[in-house]
Amino acid sequence: MFINNQDYLNAVDTLIKSNKNLENRTNLIKDEVLPFLRSHQHLLDVGIGCGTFTRQILPFFKKATLVEPEKEILQSFFYAGKTKLERVLSSIENISLSTSEYDLVVMSHVLYHIPESKRLNVIQKLYDATTEKGTIVIVYEDSLDRKALTMNFGGTCFNSEPILNFCKNNFSSVDVSTFENQICYDQLEDVHNVCRVYLHDAFITAEKNELSRWIKENLKDERDEKFYIKSTQYSIKIKKVN
Ligand SMILES: C[S@@+](CC[C@H](N)C(=O)[O-])C[C@H]1O[C@@H](n2cnc3c(N)ncnc32)[C@H](O)[C@@H]1O
Repeated sequence: MFINNQDYLNAVDTLIKSNKNLENRTNLIKDEVLPFLRSHQHLLDVGIGCGTFTRQILPFFKKATLVEPEKEILQSFFYAGKTKLERVLSSIENISLSTSEYDLVVMSHVLYHIPESKRLNVIQKLYDATTEKGTIVIVYEDSLDRKALTMNFGGTCFNSEPILNFCKNNFSSVDVSTFENQICYDQLEDVHNVCRVYLHDAFITAEKNELSRWIKENLKDERDEKFYIKSTQYSIKIKKVN
């Protein structure tokens, strides 16, 4: 569906720039997490994508470990600040992490890429790697439009319920917040890019004409000829307290 990583990152960028989800998750970290951390030594960021979110948080930490399975994405990540970076080329499910090492662990819009059977193990691994009184922030998006698109092209919808149940049943300090968004696009090409990201997240593809037809039938408002996508961004904040 994407011809290369840059094509994928450009589409992710279209999505990020068109809504307030980035601002929302950045504010959550700045206002509700950073002031309450005991120390700001070490950040773990899982899945950096185009790096926009990562760059917002890095300045607050002395060092940071970036885990990313795509070599090109990891190597091309540019940051001019003072934070010492360690780049780890791997999927999060395939590495071991030091115990009680990271003050803040962030895994934003990555869950969909991890096989369902491994997601809970990954979350437990992140928890174990977090320092006492440290915090994990897991962000994901869910929406009826995303579900409808995924199902139309034969994919399986991302199911967050097992994740929420696991967190609530296993960790004592869990806070879930939601952020509603409506994105409006004038150009079909931009909606195309966003839908391609959604399909990629669900490990499926769609033929271009078919996708255009689905978009026009389901996301276009005939009154103003614009395209609308509604979504909800979920942030799970887990504080490690015993
Ligand atoms: C949509 S981007 C998210 C970027 C950023 N975290 C944000 O919230 O804007 C998803 C990133 O996760 C990476 N990724 C995919 N599977 C992963 C895995 N199993 N472990 C770690 N990162 C993964 C992708 O290569 C991509 O860079």
